[in-house]
Amino acid sequence: MTGPILSATQVRVAFAGRGRRASATAVDGVNLDIAPGEIVALVGESGCGKTTLARTILGLERPSQGQVSFAGEPIGYRTGALRAYRRQVQLVLQDPTGSLNPRHTVYEAVAEGVRIHRLGNELGRVSDALARCGLRPPERFFDRYPHELSGGQRQRVVIAGALVLEPKVLVADEPVASLDASVRGEILSLLLRLRDELGLAALVVTHDLGLAWNIADRLAVMYLGRIVEIGTPEQVFADPRHPYTRALMSVLPESPIEPVVLTGEPPDATRIPAGCRFHPRCPEVARGAAADAGVADRCRAESLPVLPASGPGQTLVSCHLALARASLEPGTPHVPAT
Ligand SMILES: Nc1ncnc2c1ncn2[C@@H]1O[C@H](COP(=O)(O)OP(=O)(O)OP(=O)(O)O)[C@@H](O)[C@H]1O
Ligand SMILES: [Mg+2]
Repeated sequence: MTGPILSATQVRVAFAGRGRRASATAVDGVNLDIAPGEIVALVGESGCGKTTLARTILGLERPSQGQVSFAGEPIGYRTGALRAYRRQVQLVLQDPTGSLNPRHTVYEAVAEGVRIHRLGNELGRVSDALARCGLRPPERFFDRYPHELSGGQRQRVVIAGALVLEPKVLVADEPVASLDASVRGEILSLLLRLRDELGLAALVVTHDLGLAWNIADRLAVMYLGRIVEIGTPEQVFADPRHPYTRALMSVLPESPIEPVVLTGEPPDATRIPAGCRFHPRCPEVARGAAADAGVADRCRAESLPVLPASGPGQTLVSCHLALARASLEPGTPHVPAT
């Protein structure tokens, strides 16, 4: 198959307000393609819409605008269609303790999906999934309960539970957030191995830039409901073009970038600023660099087009200043005009 296995096209997800709570635009126009076997990491600070986008991609949230497509076909939201879709695109939750029922054995936990989807060869599928996830020999784990396992083993059971349905895509929301650093490395190499062995694609949502660096073929940086920069990890880490990405990268150990502390109010999906949505906190606006480049007014008043879906190896950035600078350097990849 050519073309993306999964695409989000102009996806917007708004939550209606209740009582005094204003409505929130959690995802505000996202285009994202994931190729078969590709691992895309999605990073950005708390509340920027990562989980909402992941849930929408899983069909758990219905976009208010735009659509999600799998293998070129828009996904359906009727029960049968969604069930078939969920076999292909599986969720791996962040907290293995919370996503395993303490009263279910490992076997029952992994077999659950096989039963829901009424597939044959339950024993074979469960054994295979556990073994693939490094729980070998699988029979030794069948009758264990979550509390009898280490954190890393529990996470492997969760991944086996997803894998047992032979999906094409895993969506992992903070897959290793609750694990020790040493176990984290193991789980990461497991995900990479599954990609290599099974051609599994993955969307990995994470706060952990080190994880993103280690695992991702492409890195998407989200700010207030939009992807503001996307590219290979090498490019995004070595030469972040969006001031928000620069700020994120600057606090990494050994970053060559002078640490940038973001000031101003944390982003709020109920009140999206006019112009560039990052401008109230943008260090380049604050220190006059945007004014020097003649774009400060645009930063404040002119909204940026939603980034189109990019292909592997392509870098896109949504920033007036970065675009003005790129136009001075012919040949630099930048956003095509839309
Ligand atoms: N069911 C909901 N109803 C109303 N607002 C919601 C709902 N779910 C999320 N939001 C709002 O949408 C925005 C994005 O939330 P989301 O959970 O997607 O962010 P996130 O990037 O996953 O954050 P974190 O890193 O903390 O997990 C937030 O402002 C949040 O308050
Ligand atoms: Mg989240």
